[in-house]
Amino acid sequence: MAELGFEVLAVDVDAAKIDRLARGEVPFFEPGLDELLRSNLAAGRLRFTTSFEQVAAFGDVHFLCVGTPQQPGGQGADLSYLHGAVSALAPHLRRRCLVVGKSTVPVGTAAALAARLTAEAPAEGVELAWNPEFLREGFAVDDTLRPDRLVFGVASASAEDTLRAVYAPITSRQDTPVIVADFATAELVKVAANSFLATKISYINAMAEVCESVDADVTTLARALSLDDRIGGKFLRPGVGFGGGCLPKDIRAFLARADELGVGHSLTFLREVDEINLRRRERVVELARAAVGGSLAGRRVAVLGASFKPNSDDVRDSPALAVAGLLASEGAAVTVYDPMAMDNARKARPELSYAPSVTAAVTGSEVTVLLTEWAEFAELDPAALGGVAAGQTVVDARHALDPARWRLAGWTYLAPGRPAMPAAAVPAARRRRPTPRRARAAFSAAQA
Ligand code: UDX
Repeated sequence: MAELGFEVLAVDVDAAKIDRLARGEVPFFEPGLDELLRSNLAAGRLRFTTSFEQVAAFGDVHFLCVGTPQQPGGQGADLSYLHGAVSALAPHLRRRCLVVGKSTVPVGTAAALAARLTAEAPAEGVELAWNPEFLREGFAVDDTLRPDRLVFGVASASAEDTLRAVYAPITSRQDTPVIVADFATAELVKVAANSFLATKISYINAMAEVCESVDADVTTLARALSLDDRIGGKFLRPGVGFGGGCLPKDIRAFLARADELGVGHSLTFLREVDEINLRRRERVVELARAAVGGSLAGRRVAVLGASFKPNSDDVRDSPALAVAGLLASEGAAVTVYDPMAMDNARKARPELSYAPSVTAAVTGSEVTVLLTEWAEFAELDPAALGGVAAGQTVVDARHALDPARWRLAGWTYLAPGRPAMPAAAVPAARRRRPTPRRARAAFSAAQA
């Protein structure tokens, strides 16, 4: 908002975080955000405080940006931070303003918060709007300044006008579609979008399971599917599945809310999406186990990657750390390296060992498992690593490496959804040649 030219005062209950931000330090890794923070601090458009009284007096528009994680011990969303923010802010709202929710919430939350604002804010004309956030970690700056679409959940024309004014610096310089909706629809857009993305990933990972049963190659299958522009290639990358602070907890919270609403049956497939996703983690462990002869107990495993995806230091529900933990739980000595997420990984999984570089992690390891597709891993020199590893098997759980290069350097290359050997190395007897009749049937099916 400061970059778009607004005067911004930001509040958080965590005083240490506010201190760091005020000094120009972003407390997490997000490409491009440090520069934006520093330039807007320097321009005087962005300030930080821990006083809700101060922000309440300052703002014409208040964005609520707190997290809605999975409930401890449950499937639904934990709304305590959101309700906490409203409790802290509402009693100080002594002038007309718009409170805008950005958090991902169970449908119905906005209506409840609107009622709370009316009851708890001393001023007349304190209104709520719901404006879901679609940014991806790693691309947060660009996704925010150049969004695909804006969704305004509003209950009045004046709330819509205010949001249009807030986003005018974006909509005036690029053609960004604006969808105006009621609260419930706006809330649903976010969870429906994330559920769709999760479903697409689990779909291709389900195909990987089928491929594994017949020695087919899911990466080739995905590429062929992606060329149908009705399907498209985005979110069709198979591997160890999705993680992070959004997709996993959002599908679970959506299911839990649908159950409450009596429409759980409409989302049963999301349970399957979650299960396929979690099975992929087991599959990677299975490949590593097979690589060391059937038991991981006492074996040394190098894990490359800890964050839930590259260009992020976020380890929340990270498939990489989950797999590292599963390997360790079977008795393996696991050494993890990640370019950015080491501190967070250490905090989340103190029982694992950590190494300061890929080479240090791989030295003496019997199997190497790549779990996050950081660009630097694709550029590794397999010959050099082969010289320090105790065993030359790599499990590429993200399909990030070039199998031919690694095999040429003497490595056994394994990846979920791909045959263990390249097609050329498969003995001729194992290749099924189509009979003329089967070939004809396949041809007419393709024509149809
Ligand atoms: C997601 C949504 O994309 C974003 O719109 C929403 O605002 C927040 O949630 P994010 O959590 O940052 O964003 O990550 P995303 O890029 O969606 O990736 C989620 C997970 O799916 C990662 O673990 C990633 O590795 C995995 N993934 C993604 C795949 O396994 N295959 C793919 O093809 C794409």
